[in-house]
Amino acid sequence: MKEIVIGFLGCGNVGGGVWELLQGFAPEIAHRDQLSVRVKKILVRDVNKARSCSVPRELLTTVPEDVLCDPEITLVAEFMGGEQPATEYLLRALQNGKTVVTANKVAVALNWHKLQAAAQANHVGLYYEASVCGAIPIINALMTPLQANRITKLMGIINGTTNYILSRMSAQGESYDAVLQDAQKLGLAEPDPSSDVEGMDAAYKLSIMASLAFHARVPFKAVYREGITRVTAMDIACGKEMGYVLKLLAIAKRDGNTIEVRVHPTFLPQNHPLSSVDGSFNAVYLHGHACQEMMLQGRGAGDMPTASAVVGDILHAAMVDVHVHPTFANQAEPAKELTFTNNWTTKYYIRVSAIDAPGVLSAVAGCFAKENVSIASMMQKGSVEDGRVPLVFITHAASEQAMQAALADMDPAVCRLESMIRVED
Ligand code: NAP
Ligand code: HSE
Repeated sequence: MKEIVIGFLGCGNVGGGVWELLQGFAPEIAHRDQLSVRVKKILVRDVNKARSCSVPRELLTTVPEDVLCDPEITLVAEFMGGEQPATEYLLRALQNGKTVVTANKVAVALNWHKLQAAAQANHVGLYYEASVCGAIPIINALMTPLQANRITKLMGIINGTTNYILSRMSAQGESYDAVLQDAQKLGLAEPDPSSDVEGMDAAYKLSIMASLAFHARVPFKAVYREGITRVTAMDIACGKEMGYVLKLLAIAKRDGNTIEVRVHPTFLPQNHPLSSVDGSFNAVYLHGHACQEMMLQGRGAGDMPTASAVVGDILHAAMVDVHVHPTFANQAEPAKELTFTNNWTTKYYIRVSAIDAPGVLSAVAGCFAKENVSIASMMQKGSVEDGRVPLVFITHAASEQAMQAALADMDPAVCRLESMIRVED
């Protein structure tokens, strides 16, 4: 029987799940893989804090070196979160010859090049399946079975917290604040949940996924980002009436050397495969020239789904002879030949409140027409309030620049913009 001795950095939602999964699954791991995994030390902030997992108190430490410098520990599993000190600790672990398994998308997205260089220089592994989409094996899928594809499009629901919030707001019309608190209680949200609702978490994950999908470094700073904090129940209801479902989508498209990467609330047709992905489920829908269309779906957050990915990485790392790393030039800056564009083409949902007077509709239509934005459908929603009436438009595909110019042309005294949501199909 082979024994691997490991250390944890962190023991919160994810760390507790990893501990429980390793304990409960140990007999099968021993029987099936002839492997025993022993957790020797666990770094936390406060050893006296009450914990819901069954970790023995004597394993806990507040001294990073107890994990990073113990020669018996050959693998460090990190679920502290945040860029620092996590990145510094991961680099020290790699430099000390330890393989790293991490669930930390911030550290990977921002410092991947440094981590990978340290892993390669020290002939150890760097694994981060849990950093993107919880239990869904998307990293492995992109690195191995999908390698034979030129992937041109990838769209995903990659944040469980916001999908949980939007699903409940859509189904039951519940308030944003109450649902966010439930997501936190379920252990789905980030230690700072603004990272979820402002779209940062999804943007970190998209930077990692798009880099692997396009075999080119897609830096976090290239990702356009809008969160869900300005989403209203009224827009969800109007979209529903027009046949759409609202999701926080992460979208990556590549056309030659031009890449667009964006995270924002998006309306999808009700019959789109991603539209029925609800609650804390995540899904990634992609197109490759050989595999064509495919969707991977599963639990994207929570202690056990995330632990599933972490423990999978630990077992894989313990059993392989050679660690494999992505082959694209993993540097801080993207390759010079690539262009990142914010002028994508998509359809738009526009809600305005317009003065209830003759000629107003043609004035709005005139702003669209001037920029060559064509209207596909229109709906008047609700009744006149303060002399204004809510109007909702869905456009045909238009460029982002044209749409922004059309909105800038509108006179708010006559027609005030209430919301603009992009529509994909
Ligand atoms: P969490 O519950 O807040 O746990 C963080 C743990 O790290 C705690 O045990 C904390 O110690 C420890 N810690 C934080 N900063 C530290 C420091 N400076 N020194 C020592 N220990 C420190 O967070 P989580 O939800 O488990 O998430 C952890 C990581 O997993 C994040 O990177 C997150 O993005 C990622 N992730 C989370 C999920 C999810 O569903 N929650 C899913 C996938 C990936 P104390 O316990 O003493 O406070
Ligand atoms: N807070 C993250 C989410 C955890 O809600 O998706 C999984 O990365």
